[in-house]
Amino acid sequence: MHRTNLKILHAPADLQTVADAWRRSGKRIGFVPTMGALHEGHAALMRQARAASDVVVVSIFVNPAQFGKGEDFAKYPRMLESDRERVRDAGVDVLFVPETAGMYPDGYATFVDVEGISAVLEGASRPGHFKGVATVVTKLLNIVKPHTAYFGQKDAQQVAVVKRLIADLNVDVRIIVVPTVREPDGLALSSRNVYLDPAQRAEAPVLHRALRYAEDRIRQGETDVPGLKSLMAGMIAGESSGVVDYLSVAHAESLMELTTVSAGMPVLISLAVRFGTTRLIDNILVGANS
Ligand code: PAJ
Repeated sequence: MHRTNLKILHAPADLQTVADAWRRSGKRIGFVPTMGALHEGHAALMRQARAASDVVVVSIFVNPAQFGKGEDFAKYPRMLESDRERVRDAGVDVLFVPETAGMYPDGYATFVDVEGISAVLEGASRPGHFKGVATVVTKLLNIVKPHTAYFGQKDAQQVAVVKRLIADLNVDVRIIVVPTVREPDGLALSSRNVYLDPAQRAEAPVLHRALRYAEDRIRQGETDVPGLKSLMAGMIAGESSGVVDYLSVAHAESLMELTTVSAGMPVLISLAVRFGTTRLIDNILVGANS
């Protein structure tokens, strides 16, 4: 195991000083932003960052700005001690754990709003969510000053929002998208999976089966999106107690909802489904090479 001398920093200004020194000495900085409760999905991001960078920073910050009223901010799993060991085992150099008051001090007034793509899918179900994500990601990039930042395909819309803000605000960073890490039965790893009771956990892999089914149909030439959605909805209703929040077949970059799939078009099939009070999301990208 690649164990380093892990340094833990809390103050944004301290990390900026460290990052400036690294940059002056020509070091390539890799960055993995997280909210903690780390699992093998986060580990895959850390591994890629470690392999491609001279120095690696991981942040753990449960960002209040991206949780809506009535969402799980208060009960979001927090396990800093075991997270710290995972981060150390991954050979990370600096773990950044800011305080809320350090990120959003009194008088804080600036937000980043990526219009259009923030309003659909997750954004439609969770108003303000991507404004909170875009704001904290912008702040973290200004603090860590990475050359490369790593994000998971699991949160496909988050990737689209981050790529848009980086282009629009001329942020000098490269984004690497890491494939979704799954349990052997197909369930995408998520910090929220711990909320599932055993019966819900047993049903949840139907989400991946429904996505795979739609992917296969599209690869076989199916173009009718309403038909695909009703087949997916039927699978989920037939094989689980999950309540569909949305099922989407959209253009992979614009996230515009499709009614017909055209040959060669990059398509994002995505869904959000509630099991009791636990809301799971997942997606598959078809016909795109990123
Ligand atoms: P969090 O949910 O902790 O996820 C941190 C990163 O891990 C994200 O880029 C996410 O897409 C990735 N990830 C989560 N599960 C994954 C899986 N099963 N396979 C691959 N990657 C996975 O996403 C956030 O935190 C926050 O919104 C953040 C970007 C940190 C801003 O607060």
